[in-house]
Amino acid sequence: MSTQPIDITNPAILATIPSTSATFLMCPPRLYDVNYVINPWMAGNVHASSRTRAAEQWQRLYEAVSTIADVQLVEPQPGSPDMVFTANAGLERNGTVAISSFFHPERQGEEPHFRRWFEQAGYKVMDTPRATPFEGEGDALFSTDGTRLFVGYGPRTVPSSHQALRKIWGIEVTSLHLIDPRFYHLDTCFAPLEGGYVMYFPEAFDRASLDKIEAFYPLEKRIIVAESDAVCFACNAINVDRTIILNNISSDLRSQLESRGFDVIEVTLTEFLKAGGAAKCLVMKLSHAAL
Ligand code: ARG
Repeated sequence: MSTQPIDITNPAILATIPSTSATFLMCPPRLYDVNYVINPWMAGNVHASSRTRAAEQWQRLYEAVSTIADVQLVEPQPGSPDMVFTANAGLERNGTVAISSFFHPERQGEEPHFRRWFEQAGYKVMDTPRATPFEGEGDALFSTDGTRLFVGYGPRTVPSSHQALRKIWGIEVTSLHLIDPRFYHLDTCFAPLEGGYVMYFPEAFDRASLDKIEAFYPLEKRIIVAESDAVCFACNAINVDRTIILNNISSDLRSQLESRGFDVIEVTLTEFLKAGGAAKCLVMKLSHAAL
C-alpha cells in the first residue's frame, strides 16, 4: 500500500526517474505541531501529533514527490507550525506569485517568510489585500490545460479576492462555494487531474458550484469521491503527468484512478490530517525552478 522509502542518493535509482519540469515547494516539519484550532480537524488534536512520526511521513512524501518533480525547500520558522502546508503560501504562475493574506491571525505570521523566499528566488511578488483574505493554492487551482482558475470561497478565501487573480493572470476564474466546514479549502475536495479529469467530493459544494464544475468537465471526466475517502483527504492529491500521490484511499477509488491510466502512490499522512491537511497541502506547485 504505502510507498517504500526510495534512496534518492542511489545513482541507479536516480537513472530510472523520468526527467520532469515540475517543481514543488515544501517546508520540512521540524517545527510542525497542532497549536490552535482553526478548522474542525484540529479540534481535539492540539499537541496530539507526534513530531517524529510527522517527520517520517513527510520524508516519505518528499521522496515520492522527488521521483516526479524537483523539490525546493523553505525553512520552517518559530511560531508558524502550519508553515509545512506550503500550498497556502500563495499562488504562482509564469514567475508571478500572489502571496496569501490568511483569514486567521494564527497563520498571518507566515506571510513575510514566504514573501522573502519568493523574492530571494527571483519571483515577481504581488501582495493580496489583508481586507480580502486569500489562501493561495489551497483555494485556487488551475485546470491542467491552464485555461481556467477554479477558486474556492466561504471558510477562508473571500469571493472579492478572486477579481485580483483574474487581473494578475488575465485568466477566466470560476468561483466555487465551499459549504462543508470539513472541506474548508478547495484542495481538500477538488483536484483537477491530467487528461482533463477532475476528482471531487460533490457534497462539499452548493448546487450552483456543482453546475459550474459539470459545465467545464463532461460526465466521463468526473471522478466522484465518496465521503469515506473524502474524509481521508483523497481529493488532496498531487498529480504530475500520470502519477498521483495522496494519503491512503479505498481500493475502489484506487482502481477507478488506475482504470483511467494513473499510477497511484499512497503515502500515510495521519499526523498531518490532525491539522486538517494531507499530500497536496504539503506542496506548492511552481511553474519554474527557483533561480
Ligand atoms: N491547519 C492548516 C489550516 O487550517 C491546514 C492547512 C491545509 N492546507 C490546505 N492547502 N488545505 O490552515
